Amino acid sequence: MTTEKQNAVEIVHVNAGSAYDVVIGRGILAQAASLVPHCDNAERVVVVADDITERLFMDQVMASFMNAGFEVSSFVFAHGEARKNICTYAGLLDHLAARHLTRSDLVVALGGGVVGDLAGFAAATYMRGCGFVQIPTTLLAAVDSSVGGKVAIDLLAGKNLAGAFHQPRVVVCDTACLDSLPDQEFANGMAEALKYGVLRDPALFEALQDHPRENLERLIARCVDIKRAYVEADEREAGARKYLNLGHTFGHAIEKASGYDVPHGSAVAIGIVMSARLAVARGMADASLVTALSTCLDNAGLPISTDMPARVLARAALSDKKRAGHAIPFVLPRAVGECDLVPVNVADLEAAFTQACA
Ligand code: GLY
Repeated sequence: MTTEKQNAVEIVHVNAGSAYDVVIGRGILAQAASLVPHCDNAERVVVVADDITERLFMDQVMASFMNAGFEVSSFVFAHGEARKNICTYAGLLDHLAARHLTRSDLVVALGGGVVGDLAGFAAATYMRGCGFVQIPTTLLAAVDSSVGGKVAIDLLAGKNLAGAFHQPRVVVCDTACLDSLPDQEFANGMAEALKYGVLRDPALFEALQDHPRENLERLIARCVDIKRAYVEADEREAGARKYLNLGHTFGHAIEKASGYDVPHGSAVAIGIVMSARLAVARGMADASLVTALSTCLDNAGLPISTDMPARVLARAALSDKKRAGHAIPFVLPRAVGECDLVPVNVADLEAAFTQACA
């Protein structure tokens, strides 16, 4: 584990294409600007938020960057995955240009996964890439989406279909921001956190079931450190990083087929249970694994099944960006802490979804 603990602040060092720190602590939002590594030419900052994170945190973050001498503006859009689209993206690019941002300036994502993905994709593509800072304000963004450099917007054909890899300069995770999360939103983050336990850490899986809010910095740091290892081994998802998609192929199909009414974390929770069912159907896992995962996710306040027909979900999965030719790789658990990557031919997709829904 390459984390440091400094005065209750956990720091995970990520050595991807560029190296950066994920700083996790309580009450660190007001110091956000001081945590950005020094960059001589950075003068302007655009803080991107949705209407919720604007109301809760924007003043503090803007003050931090203004006090550090930056010229600061904000770009705010209505919350929700449905807004992570090409129109909002175009509006943000126009805002960056109107504010005369240069490549050495900074786009700061203040919010959950939707804000981070959209702001990051704009930062990756504006002038072929400008500086980027992640300030995750949801558990889901803290444990997963703010780390590793995947940024994207959705197209009508599917989720995250236009995207890039663009690592942030720093991730500033103030756990006090998570105090304001509604229970359902916290639960959505638990789905991604539990994913890391199922992937390779039975002790984390256990710890997350035991008052997770009480030891948040440590638990987030553990999830981020597991993600760090996958990202460092395979930044561009040519191999090992594919494991991080546990529950996601099923989950993205559920999100898409629901018109993004089902939140990402909830869809991933259902997707993890479906993955376990498919593993059982293929003789890779014992049926008790489905029970164990369902119980744990249900106790965390997450859904564990969907009424959507397998046929509809399989069709939604056909445009999954992980598809390579005639196969889509699925991550299937053998046990908590042990998963395999299993390609499923698109001709067998509906049968696989049927087994996973059963
Ligand atoms: N959320 C999966 C990844 O970052 O690869």
